[in-house]
Amino acid sequence: MYVILRQAHSGLRWVILLLIVAAIVQAWNKWQKKSPFEPKKQRLALFALIVTHLQLLLGVILYFVSPKVAFGANMMKDPVTRFFSVEHVTLMALAVALITMGYSRSKRSAPDAKGFKILALFYLAGLVLLLAGIPWPFRNLGAGWF
Ligand code: HEM
Repeated sequence: MYVILRQAHSGLRWVILLLIVAAIVQAWNKWQKKSPFEPKKQRLALFALIVTHLQLLLGVILYFVSPKVAFGANMMKDPVTRFFSVEHVTLMALAVALITMGYSRSKRSAPDAKGFKILALFYLAGLVLLLAGIPWPFRNLGAGWF
């Protein structure tokens, strides 16, 4: 069960990154063209939001079952434990919060094209945090590419 969850959580990162980048590019282009913002038509931004929330859910479950999460006196001394117990969850929670805020705030400015600007900027800020919080293999945290 743990291994399946971890693999799903690991692979889903690529789906999220792809959807977020596509949503940013689309919103940016539509903002430049001053297209009217129609909240119900922002499917890409919505899919990105849904998959990000699904990842959050998997992450929360993993947080309780992963051997890489621990609390105690030596927790901050071990880089892998510190990363997964504190850094990863903090950065990812902030990223999810920004993406969620971007999605809901953009709706408020409809039909103004400003909605696309809000989407693009909040999703971009979220993307930066996601990239910073992913345990990429080159960071030597014991995680892989998939
Ligand atoms: C929403 C964006 C998130 C992304 C893109 C993401 C991505 C990842 C990736 C790529 C791994 C490495 C998996 C591997 O190959 O071993 C990982 C591990 C982990 N993540 Fe996340 N994560 C996210 C959110 C969260 C959240 C919010 C939590 C906790 C509440 C969390 C908890 C964990 C834990 C505990 C592990 C270690 C699993 C293990 O190997 O035992 N993640 N995450």
